[in-house]
Amino acid sequence: MKIFIDTADTDQIGKFLSWGICDGVTTNPSINLKCGVATWAQMQERSRAIADLIAPRPLSVEVVADDLEEMLRQAREYVQWAPNIAVKITITTTKGESCLSVIHTLCKEGVDVNVTAMMTLNQLVLAAKAGGRYLSLFGGRIDDEGNDAYEVIRASREWLDVNGDECPNDPEIIVGSTRTTKNVQDWIEAGAHILTVTPDILDKMLVNARTKETVTQFLADGEKALASIKGG
Ligand code: E4P
Repeated sequence: MKIFIDTADTDQIGKFLSWGICDGVTTNPSINLKCGVATWAQMQERSRAIADLIAPRPLSVEVVADDLEEMLRQAREYVQWAPNIAVKITITTTKGESCLSVIHTLCKEGVDVNVTAMMTLNQLVLAAKAGGRYLSLFGGRIDDEGNDAYEVIRASREWLDVNGDECPNDPEIIVGSTRTTKNVQDWIEAGAHILTVTPDILDKMLVNARTKETVTQFLADGEKALASIKGG
């Protein structure tokens, strides 16, 4: 199971790299904006910086288009920025038109596509068959609708375990849109290959009040031994 960091904040990414827990990074236009990346030039600069920082791990960068030709054009530009960039393409346009031809074309060109904004097993099956390398289910948004993210992830993993060999690009399930530390535990158990997690949730996954209390006790008792040495 891999952990991706769902941010464009290079300081945070550097921190999690130093912890040894970063297997990749995902961004999208909303994440970029939140991290102060507001122009196309800044997006290019930040994407190159993150890709360089985490290489050879993958960075997902999302196209900003609702037109299939423009998606292809941007995707082909992104992959020139760095060799470890995967291009995020939404499963449909804003109007519900299929983006599968874009995904399939890019797959044939050797581009790793992260098919994004998916909410159902049906969408995931189509994305995998079209050639998506990463299949992004938005767990939090699925649950927001009153549907069951755990069940969608479980069924998706079961389907991929049986049918993945027939899909062209060795697809893996990324679950994003994590809202709580419990989501992370549940969705790992449901069978996600990759969880993409925001820095604040990663920090919360680590810290535990009972652990802090225990470490405090050990340190206090250990310091007694140290004091005896210092005392001669
Ligand atoms: C993942 O790739 C997505 O960018 C992200 O997890 C979406 O999360 P949100 O639903 O909080 O916007």
